[in-house]
Amino acid sequence: MKMRSIISLMLCLCLTAAVLVGCGGNASKPTENVTEAATAAETKTDGIDYMVLVNKTHKLPDDWEEKLETVHMTNSVGDDVETEKKAYDAYLKLKADLEKDGIHVDLDSARRSVADQQRIMDDFTKQYGKDYALKTVATPGYSEHHTGLALDLYLIIDGKDITENEDMMQYPEIWSKIHAKLADYGFILRYLEGREYITGYGYEPWHIRYIDNVDTAKEIMSKDITFEEYLGAYKGGKVDIDYGTSSIYKEDELKDAVIQIECRFASLDGCVLKSIRYAGDEAVTDEKLKAIQEQNPDSKYTQIVEFLMDFHTPENTGDTTLESDRDYTDYQWWLARTADSGWEIVSFGYGA
Ligand code: DAL
Ligand code: ZN
Repeated sequence: MKMRSIISLMLCLCLTAAVLVGCGGNASKPTENVTEAATAAETKTDGIDYMVLVNKTHKLPDDWEEKLETVHMTNSVGDDVETEKKAYDAYLKLKADLEKDGIHVDLDSARRSVADQQRIMDDFTKQYGKDYALKTVATPGYSEHHTGLALDLYLIIDGKDITENEDMMQYPEIWSKIHAKLADYGFILRYLEGREYITGYGYEPWHIRYIDNVDTAKEIMSKDITFEEYLGAYKGGKVDIDYGTSSIYKEDELKDAVIQIECRFASLDGCVLKSIRYAGDEAVTDEKLKAIQEQNPDSKYTQIVEFLMDFHTPENTGDTTLESDRDYTDYQWWLARTADSGWEIVSFGYGA
């Protein structure tokens, strides 16, 4: 098998994503028709759109900053946290309600500037590698945190601040009690487990989003759907994932690899994912590992894995390496990892 170099492939997907981003536009539900004069007058007084969609393919609207009103608070670890005004009021009510049940939360991070986001992205990339960073941290300009409406909570348990992601993941029962109350205050959970192919990010029980509408929040939360699905911004159906059987990898290890692929795939606006399947242990060969090691001499990769994907491209992909309105089947994704790191995507496409 001839594998493309990681650099050209990264470039190719980045280019593809960049071009496809232009196809989407803002997916907020349409408002009623108004005259141009009324629209202009409203623009001045209307404030922000609490239903704004900001994700891997929808960037922060250009005029957001000038309309945004925020407040600052200091959290229990002494950090300054800036939040959109109404979202903060709603958060205080949620927090007070949770305290009645003995659950204590605080705000780790809410509104972030593009420069803040860049710092986080750089730190994560350096510490955990590019792919882990891409499934965990939004590209600057495309983070919901820029809106001031996305709030990252942390837990305070027995007076101790639990702020690290891995540590917070150890308390699923507490998170489900928190999630059960979100909609009562106009919040939704944004990055659902198992919906990485839609949101483009791994599960984040701490990341909540204010939408300023209790009924809509209740609808979204009770239907267990993503914000993208509610807004009609996600066009696909259910995705079939087949981990097959492997005597090399446990299902959890294969699942981690699939999440990396899904998070990368979600950058391709309008592409509809249909299925992902493990290519089998027979596709894991020394020859391929060697080829990848040679292409990435500094990487120290020790293991590889292959998945096959079926997907469909939108009517107009623009000038990219993907053809428009086409079914792609058995599209290959190669991932590799070192002895102490997670999976990284090293190649994708028809490389044979
Ligand atoms: N962690 C979320 C995806 C962000 O960086 O905006
Ligand atoms: Zn967040």
